Amino acid sequence: MGPSVRMFDRRRFLQALAALGVTNAAPGHTEDKPRFGAAPFALGVASGYPSPNGVALWTRLVIDPSLPGGGIDPVRTRVSWEVAKDDKMKTVVASGADLLTPAWAHAMHVDVTGLEPDRWYWYRFTAGNAESPIGRTRTAPATREAAPRLKFAFASCQHYEHGYFSAYRHMLADELDLIAFLGDYIYETRAPKDLAVRSHNSSEPRTLSRYRVRHALYKTDRDLRAAHAALPWICTWDDHEVDNDYAANQPQDDVPLEEWVARRLVAYKAYYEHMPLRESMRPTAEGMPLHAQIDWGALARFFVLDDRQYRTPQACPRPDRKGGSNTVDVAACPALLAPDRTILGTRQERWLEGALQQTPARWNLLAQQTLMAQFDQQVGPGRRAWTDAWDGYPLARKRLLEHIAQKRVPNPVAIGGDVHAFYVADLKADYDDPKAPVIGSEFVGTSITAPGWPQEQIDALLPENPHIRFGDSRHRGYVRVEVTPQQLRADLRAMDTVKKPDGACSTLASFVVANGVPGAQRA
Ligand SMILES: [Fe+2]
Repeated sequence: MGPSVRMFDRRRFLQALAALGVTNAAPGHTEDKPRFGAAPFALGVASGYPSPNGVALWTRLVIDPSLPGGGIDPVRTRVSWEVAKDDKMKTVVASGADLLTPAWAHAMHVDVTGLEPDRWYWYRFTAGNAESPIGRTRTAPATREAAPRLKFAFASCQHYEHGYFSAYRHMLADELDLIAFLGDYIYETRAPKDLAVRSHNSSEPRTLSRYRVRHALYKTDRDLRAAHAALPWICTWDDHEVDNDYAANQPQDDVPLEEWVARRLVAYKAYYEHMPLRESMRPTAEGMPLHAQIDWGALARFFVLDDRQYRTPQACPRPDRKGGSNTVDVAACPALLAPDRTILGTRQERWLEGALQQTPARWNLLAQQTLMAQFDQQVGPGRRAWTDAWDGYPLARKRLLEHIAQKRVPNPVAIGGDVHAFYVADLKADYDDPKAPVIGSEFVGTSITAPGWPQEQIDALLPENPHIRFGDSRHRGYVRVEVTPQQLRADLRAMDTVKKPDGACSTLASFVVANGVPGAQRA
């Protein structure tokens, strides 16, 4: 978190938090054997962050997703968990219990350890007379083991009102090891009425209660719940989990700082309460540590990055706004080139540089929110940059890519979302020099449902950006990735429609990155 949070009036900040219900004291009563009139696992079960010996498990007690408290009595409630080697839960190998509190929305986070590497497990939760559905998860291969294969999908930008999350049903047919979600898990904003196929049924969330209800609504989508129950996820967020285009302590709109920071914190808290995150990611008044490293033996390492929480505010915002993104003439916005601009924050940047330098992995996957490659948004001479993506932080991008090149990080590949389009691009430290070497490869996945730009706009801009090898905004969908020691293959998976719950999915295009040869080639 930036210096202004540490410096501003802590007392007013805490008052704001208390008003939003974050600091409510634990009630005295404990329910050890609760009896539920209806099933209290309406949001399902989930897992995440596989390691060689463990995985994170999640559930939240909810009977009625439309209520901020989920329809659960506001008392401490005992919930137990079990992990088994079989899908009938006969051979239980780990178990435990915890008291869930209404202050944390009766959400459960368990960091299971002591499991065997590289195998599937099943898990379930029990609360009094109620049992959860059985979830399936898996551990990662042993550290430095020569794993032969990793198969995963990555996805982003699921707007409930814009469509059904049926892309997940097709992912489950792909026999994946995990799902990487790269931001905009919920949207705070509405879809235009003529484009909406279902409704948030509530206005823009600003309080803890409203963010909880919004998250719970999203998990009423059966395909999303099924994807959480079937595979471990790794996650980062983008702006819409809180508010459009925010940057650390800078909201898009002109609101008092303490009001903004309190809103951001309750949004982070609701996110934590609804996602299969590690216990160590639990938010505090200082923020929420979400960046992470996940190893798949010696085959692949994910660097899951958070480019939202610590970034410098976007340069040269629109004149009518306090903050937020803009598409600027690069020559007219010298602030873009300030060397202290950072998209990851200094601490995360140092952590990433260290982790990249020491990586034992053959494939090094930068799992982050948005387009990393330069994308000139102006047809003809001059260059326009969209300030919310890495184009708004050009020297931070250069630092990172030069570090990757200098340290000879093997096979760097960025995966991203945010722009509601498929892009396949070359990563270069210097995009203004056509002869600059290609350092790595980039794949951006389209949205699960949120609409993209008109395709004609992308078609007009691609000739300005020869390092972007492919761009398609016509389709919603996801990217399926298969990594082996010899190559990384990415299949761009396109839905025919998300306006109905049973859309079909097909492969729009496939690209391959060969081991040791940066830059994707059409397969
Ligand atoms: Fe988005």
